Amino acid sequence: MNVAVIGTGYVGLVTGACFSEFGVQVVCVDKDADKIAALRRGQMPIYEPGLEDLVGRNVREGRLSFSSDTAEAVQNALVVFIAVGTPAAVDGSTDLTFIEAVAREIGRCFDGYKVVVTKSTVPVGTGKKVRRWIQEELDIKGSSARFSVASNPEFLREGAAIGDFMRPDRVVIGTDEGDEQALAIMKDLYRPLFLNETPFVIANVATAELSKYAANAFLATKISFINEMSILCERVGGDVQGVARAMGLDKRIGSKFLHAGPGYGGSCFPKDTLSAAHFARELGVDFEIVEATIRANKRQRDHVTQKIRAALGGSVAGKTISFLGLSFKPETDDVRDSPAIEIARNLVEDGATIRAFDPQAMAEAGEVIPQLVLCKDAYEACEGGDALVIATEWNQFRMLDLPRVKEKLAEALMIDLRNIYRADALTAAGFEYVSVGR
Ligand code: UDX
Repeated sequence: MNVAVIGTGYVGLVTGACFSEFGVQVVCVDKDADKIAALRRGQMPIYEPGLEDLVGRNVREGRLSFSSDTAEAVQNALVVFIAVGTPAAVDGSTDLTFIEAVAREIGRCFDGYKVVVTKSTVPVGTGKKVRRWIQEELDIKGSSARFSVASNPEFLREGAAIGDFMRPDRVVIGTDEGDEQALAIMKDLYRPLFLNETPFVIANVATAELSKYAANAFLATKISFINEMSILCERVGGDVQGVARAMGLDKRIGSKFLHAGPGYGGSCFPKDTLSAAHFARELGVDFEIVEATIRANKRQRDHVTQKIRAALGGSVAGKTISFLGLSFKPETDDVRDSPAIEIARNLVEDGATIRAFDPQAMAEAGEVIPQLVLCKDAYEACEGGDALVIATEWNQFRMLDLPRVKEKLAEALMIDLRNIYRADALTAAGFEYVSVGR
């Protein structure tokens, strides 16, 4: 089977590489010729564990290629995935400009049957629009070509995306009711996972589109819930990790996504919660839980920033802060909507000097906050710091050489926004220790 994946961002590239690993013939397409040239040289546009090897192997074995020629890739493919960006507009709605452009381009360049699948996260109803845009282009050229529209949302976590694709909790496929041909083709494409006994959710297009928002909004709600709980814990002398454990052992709740911290970030949760709230409002439905989740997330970022100010005596002006972790979570260089970045920016605006280190996201962070003093490792970042802030829980920050950190810092104060240390251990090492909800 031949597959074209339009858009070689995070989702498109992982999807294309993983399908080629299944043995399918894949062309990944992007308008950005420089990006395609770099990919052809084996250079990845993002840091994702295992991706470079996966791409390299499948290119060498002739199953994966890169192109800027959408028309040729679409003509040769039976299944065309749309995996372009769907940025949030200022009002929280989803900007479908790129999806429309690609759908129309697809419509202009095929004449045989295709299944056009939306992989990008798109508001409910986008499948119908994609169908209309393609049909309009076919009508203009007087073509009677047939096509199906499907939705196959991704549930890939950055840093674990390849594992999530190869061993997913579930695969969701949405097709028009009665469209047996499209469903059979999609099932065939995912046959390796069917054989693996991966659960499949077969639904109509709207259900598939909604399921992505439902999952992400629910996970974001779990995080905001435990973050609000952490504030309660701080008031009454409770320990949020104990509360999370007690909750999580209830099998109906589950222990995942109950880590209190500086709030969720990244390219998905902030955008998807805003978008869900927005399209619900447009449909005349109040999605109140998600609205509250969004507000609580904003408040949590302010709350932990305030915690840093308080630990430093009420103001950070003129202070030096050693700052570890800039990406929105470990194992990625992605700083999009990273709580670490927002907190660092607030501290810079308050007049602090930030000596920062992140294992992967230094260049990206330096672009968005040029005032950061970028250090070569955690210990260099600690030099002369009035406090050490741990903002992202990279593994290498979990076992810092505490005597060395203490020697480098001007003040032995650690503000651990990810609760990766134990208070008693830090106190024993001579630190003043501040964490979240404990
Ligand atoms: C998410 C979804 O998990 C994935 O299924 C989806 O399709 C894309 O969005 P991702 O953004 O890569 O994936 O990161 P994820 O691991 O889900 O974490 C999101 C944010 O929540 C991070 O900022 C993380 O630090 C935060 N988080 C997560 C918490 O604050 N507490 C938790 O317990 C879990």
